[in-house]
Amino acid sequence: MTSVASPGRIAAALTELWSPQVIAEVDDAYVKVAKVQGSLGWHAHAGEDELFLVLRGTLRIEMEARTVALREGELFVVPKGVRHNPVAAEECHALLFEKKSTLHTGDLVTDRTRSLDEQLRPIALAATVHPREHGG
Ligand code: NI
Repeated sequence: MTSVASPGRIAAALTELWSPQVIAEVDDAYVKVAKVQGSLGWHAHAGEDELFLVLRGTLRIEMEARTVALREGELFVVPKGVRHNPVAAEECHALLFEKKSTLHTGDLVTDRTRSLDEQLRPIALAATVHPREHGG
C-alpha cells in the first residue's frame, strides 16, 4: 500500500470486533488495526512476536507470568511462544505489527478466528481518504 493511511480512522470505522484489518505491508510483516472489546482467548504464536499499540482506550494483555495494562499510545511486544489473552473492558482500538505467517489466534481456533484473506479485505474507502486530500 503506497497511499497515506490513518490507522485511527480505519480502526474507528471497523464494524466487527476482533477482526483485524491489514492496513500496510512492511517487507515480511503486516501492520493491522483492530477494534476489540471483551476477551479474545488464550493462545500462543510459536514462531512470531506480536506487537500491540493502543490507539484508543485501554488493553490488558494477560500472560501466564504477568499481565500488562496498555493505555492509549503505549505498546507491548508479546514474545514468540508466550501464551497470552488480550482483554478490553471497554471498546479499544489497537494497531498490530506481526509477521505475515502469524495466525490470528495462534494455536487456538474459535468462531472468532479470522483468516488472512479476511484480514486482507479492502479497507472501507471512507476511512482511507485523508482530510487534506479533499480540498486539493
Ligand atoms: Ni496473539
